[in-house]
Amino acid sequence: MGMLDGKVAIITGAGGGLGREYALLLAKEGAKIVVNDYGGSPDGRGGGSPAAQKVVDEIRAAGGQAVANGADVGDVASGASLLDAALDAFGRVDILINNAGILRDKSFVKTDEEDWDAVVRVHLKGTYAVTKPVFAWMKDNGGGVIINTSSASGLIGNFGQSNYAAAKAGVWGLSNVLAIEGARFGIRVWTLAPTATTRLTENLLPPELAAKWRPHRLAPAVLYMVSDAAAHLTGKTLSVSGSKIQELRLVAGPGYWPGDETPTVQDIVDNYDKIFLPETAPIGFE
Ligand SMILES: NC(=O)c1ccc[n+]([C@@H]2O[C@H](COP(=O)([O-])OP(=O)(O)OC[C@H]3O[C@@H](n4cnc5c(N)ncnc54)[C@H](O)[C@@H]3O)[C@@H](O)[C@H]2O)c1
Repeated sequence: MGMLDGKVAIITGAGGGLGREYALLLAKEGAKIVVNDYGGSPDGRGGGSPAAQKVVDEIRAAGGQAVANGADVGDVASGASLLDAALDAFGRVDILINNAGILRDKSFVKTDEEDWDAVVRVHLKGTYAVTKPVFAWMKDNGGGVIINTSSASGLIGNFGQSNYAAAKAGVWGLSNVLAIEGARFGIRVWTLAPTATTRLTENLLPPELAAKWRPHRLAPAVLYMVSDAAAHLTGKTLSVSGSKIQELRLVAGPGYWPGDETPTVQDIVDNYDKIFLPETAPIGFE
């Protein structure tokens, strides 16, 4: 018996990299999968490759059930086609993993409007476009689980990724709201910050880690997130790399206010330790 028997999952950008590994593992655990992939290059150009169908063929060869969907998630109408594909093929949807993504890394000054729009469109608008109809369906049909893919480097900031970080922090903000709005309908919402060697990162990760952090090592953590093993959890952000799983959180300093007075600049200088947090080790590659 599989952990996801009877469940239906939509996974965007599942024609390769991390999404393919999630699709293979969830299918192995009994879920029926809508494998979405537009099939373009890492920077989002092109499209139309049979990437999604290849993963569907792999799932079927292993005895699972899956259908391919080649929609571009960045467009509201075609993003909505993913719910239709799940309902047409399998009659329901229980799990959505928003995973599709592209990169156009350049320093901020060199990032032109096209690079900005393309990256924000796929990650942030794509998450909106696919999630909106799925969230509405889950709300009316007993709930579900949604994982939205952010990025540790996007949330913390990374040189040359202004468009990507803006989009990925936006995904995190959207997830937090969806977790609050979805709670009373049984919709659990996660933010995932993965790190693994894929075509997006093979030239970015340190070589000794790139060899080790294969994407299949992250898939069990994603299975945990969508399974009943995590039925009590929502609104959390999980960082998952090839060698560590850890929660990420926004933290607050202890806080300061001078009674009924309005604080002066000197008050703020004098109460630095009450306002700011002590420096801690940055999140990094280990
Ligand atoms: N690999 C990492 O270390 C890492 C780190 C942080 C975040 N992420 C995020 O994880 C996700 C998966 O990335 P990956 O590393 O597996 O890269 P990948 O390039 O192997 O996979 C991304 C997939 O998304 C598809 N895609 C792109 N634009 C699309 C669109 N408009 N519609 C439908 N599909 C589209 C691509 O064709 C590709 O197959 C991305 O959101 C990425 O930003 C990855």
